[in-house]
Amino acid sequence: MNALWTADELQIATNGSFVGPRFDADGIAIDSRTLNVGDIFFALQDQRDGHDFVPAAFSNGAAGAVVSRHNIDPGQALLQVPDTLAALGRLGEFARTRSSAKIAAVTGSVGKSTTKEMLRRIFASFGLTHAADASHNNHIGVPLTLARMPRDAVFAVLEIGMNHPGEIAPLARISRPHVGIITTIAATHIGAMGSLEAIAEEKADLMTGLLPYGTAVLPRGPFLPIMKRRVDPTMRVITFGTDIADEARLLEAESDAEGIDITARILGTVVRCRLQAPGRHMAQNALAALAAAAALDLDIIEAAASLDGFAPLGGRGAKLKLERSGLDITILDESYNASGASVRAALDVLALQSGRHVVVLGDMLELGDFSEDEHLALAEPVAAQADLVFTCGPEMRIMFDALPPDRQGAWAVNAAQLAPLVCSALRDGDVVLVKGSHGSAMRTIIAALAGQN
Ligand SMILES: Nc1ncnc2c1ncn2[C@@H]1O[C@H](COP(=O)(O)OP(=O)(O)O)[C@@H](O)[C@H]1O
Ligand SMILES: [Mg+2]
Repeated sequence: MNALWTADELQIATNGSFVGPRFDADGIAIDSRTLNVGDIFFALQDQRDGHDFVPAAFSNGAAGAVVSRHNIDPGQALLQVPDTLAALGRLGEFARTRSSAKIAAVTGSVGKSTTKEMLRRIFASFGLTHAADASHNNHIGVPLTLARMPRDAVFAVLEIGMNHPGEIAPLARISRPHVGIITTIAATHIGAMGSLEAIAEEKADLMTGLLPYGTAVLPRGPFLPIMKRRVDPTMRVITFGTDIADEARLLEAESDAEGIDITARILGTVVRCRLQAPGRHMAQNALAALAAAAALDLDIIEAAASLDGFAPLGGRGAKLKLERSGLDITILDESYNASGASVRAALDVLALQSGRHVVVLGDMLELGDFSEDEHLALAEPVAAQADLVFTCGPEMRIMFDALPPDRQGAWAVNAAQLAPLVCSALRDGDVVLVKGSHGSAMRTIIAALAGQN
């Protein structure tokens, strides 16, 4: 089998020129610290200039580097291009074109990474499956994921995200999926988008990349008509939800503290599975993943069976059991991200757990003018579920102040300052939900809870 990328392919795909020896590449790296021996290193201009790290990439075993300028030792294996990010994009497009894999692309306000992992698990039981290990869903992550796709992949799952209007369409176009999935429409990044309708329109841009005769998997809900309007007549639509009209329909979902038993009818076939991930939102994601599998004509009973035992990803509901100074504590680690929809989903999971309920929340970011309302609206569901609440950040202060006084544990300016207050309040048997936007650094609190003190 050839290398992931031969020298000829690298040159043709990027339209670059080799400086020094030509080279093949076994993998793609954009960070010299995580580079594997034999990778090609792309010197991207992101927070830092990747050109500064070319020597480090070579000392870590890079096969070569893609650069837009060089003053490095002659003899080093360089591929010179006018723009390294554009070159990565072209390589991603080339990878997509040379591949005969069935491609699923996932977008949506919440649940993209979880649904991607469910699909990875389903597809892997049918053939070689490629998907990114992280949430690589932006203008760098999507082409990177494509460029890393093995030649012989039978399936691939791509995650497509957005922070600002216009970001989804170009990523959808290079992905050219056979099946496009929109997980949910909710108020994440609403600050930049202005309305839920605008969010639904933006997500529906996924359709601009969908292949003719492809399938759109869409969530039932008030924005379904907006999304459906964007689907070309050659494409098939499968909706998922609980409506009798949904071809992927949830018939029963029974959650307990550890998981959820699902019965669903997918294109006429009744299937069952048990996720090791409680909450109806997980059932919704599973429904979307199964609908996508059915769209690709996979055996749906086998697909459902492969979801058995699916567990939440790190920071997205993973359950940790800790012993801290002789106390048994359960943590629901939701520190990866937060929005109104996902906080509500996490509170539903907390409701299933026995023990005192401690809720620790950091700010939900990128909500713009909607921020105060979105935070305040959480006071009621939080008060209904929590025995004791800790929050940090200016936005969560507003929510905290609206809580009944007997639920108010403490507020602090940031996660680092809140952590010791949470730690010292814990009792044996507590269940602690920790959640906030990535930028709120709530993993600091998880680390403190898991620490020695
Ligand atoms: N369908 C859903 N509805 C509400 N919340 C969800 C859903 N799916 C996942 N979540 C929650 O949202 C957060 C982000 O999940 P993730 O799968 O990483 O989504 P994304 O990749 O879209 O950011 C996690 O807290 C997760 O538990
Ligand atoms: Mg993600």
